[in-house]
Amino acid sequence: MTTPEHFDAIVLGAGGAGLMCAAVAGQRGRRVALLDHADEPGKKILISGGGRCNFTNIGAGPTNYISANPHFAKSALGRYTAQDFIALVDRHRIAWHEKTLGQLFCDGSAKQIVAMLLDECPNTVSLRLGQPIRDVTHADGRFAVTYGDRTLTAPALVIATGGPSIPKMGATGFAYDLARRFGLKVVEPRPALVPLTLSGDEALFRNLAGVATPVVARAGKASFAEAALFTHRGLSGPAILQVSSYWRHGESIGIDFLPGVADGWLRIAKRARPRAGLRSALPLPARLAEALEEKLALPGELGAATDKALAEIERTLSDWRFTPNGSEGFAKAEVTVGGIATDALSSKTMEARTVPGLHAIGEAVDVTGWLGGYNFQWAWASGVAAGQSL
Ligand code: FDA
Repeated sequence: MTTPEHFDAIVLGAGGAGLMCAAVAGQRGRRVALLDHADEPGKKILISGGGRCNFTNIGAGPTNYISANPHFAKSALGRYTAQDFIALVDRHRIAWHEKTLGQLFCDGSAKQIVAMLLDECPNTVSLRLGQPIRDVTHADGRFAVTYGDRTLTAPALVIATGGPSIPKMGATGFAYDLARRFGLKVVEPRPALVPLTLSGDEALFRNLAGVATPVVARAGKASFAEAALFTHRGLSGPAILQVSSYWRHGESIGIDFLPGVADGWLRIAKRARPRAGLRSALPLPARLAEALEEKLALPGELGAATDKALAEIERTLSDWRFTPNGSEGFAKAEVTVGGIATDALSSKTMEARTVPGLHAIGEAVDVTGWLGGYNFQWAWASGVAAGQSL
């Protein structure tokens, strides 16, 4: 074993949060070791947004995040905003565009974001890649991290190893294990922004694989107006991914198949086209209209149905209930809800109250954003908050 190397801070995990934190601390003159077991930094950034990285959302604010403590993210998000990250991107002359709903993407490639973050790291940041972390200990106010055959020590340690979503990309539950070892609690982690699966009873809908339609999807009090997509296993598309973060096993989700369509439309259709069947009256993709008609069991012409029956069908179509039998799990989840409990952390510095010097940032923490650039904004903001306090 070689002699230990000493730093001001050790950051575990060179994803978005860890890179940002190391860059900010490095710019403040801190000697930082940034460790990752992967052979390159920012792998999730590279694959994000279809290779173009949806790096922030113009409207990002605390209400776009899920956490046991909805107030926790306010401070960091308020002090490092989407505008701050846009200014950084502009300084690096990275061209970008808004795709939809405030979501900002690179015109070129996600590689530019990783290159920018590395460029922001001064030479006081030492990046160490491709070696598993073997041990982390804490004694006399210093943390010691052993990776490969080396030991590093520092008075500050930042957990930035993310959540367990997409293990085949090197994602692990390491952050939770480490946090627990230091006595911090972990809010039960669950896959989020993930496709939901349907059971045999709803096989009719699985036969619609590939059909997409704009809907309002609801889970509990949350609702999202975006597209839903039928898949071979169940439901996906942005509206479903969004509600998946709020959904829990055993609960149903509601889908309004005709958002924005005024009450009484079916009775109006009956007057206008009494000989038409339901499926031709439904302003939906033909295969979906056919499946819904089959489920609703309204054979024959609209003119033969009572207004009461049609009103009931309208109600059903505006809140169609699916009870998913599961999700596609961490293997397909874009993020994880839950994580290191925020009540043990300072919302200003991300430092654990009970273990001076220990910090946690990014997806490892129990703060989870909606789909649409919010998760990276949390990675940047929490990384800056910790980086400024190291
Ligand atoms: P992140 O997971 O990025 O980084 C953690 C780092 O720790 C990794 O480099 C990993 O290798 C390392 N690590 C893990 N375990 C370790 C161990 N035991 N030892 C050493 N190192 C370890 N968000 C968004 O806002 N816009 C988007 O476009 C997308 N798109 C997207 C697509 C896909 C396919 C996925 C899976 C996710 C997204 N996301 C997203 C979510 C976003 O990628 C995610 O929220 C952030 O990357 C979280 O950043 P962190 O730095 O916290 O963790």
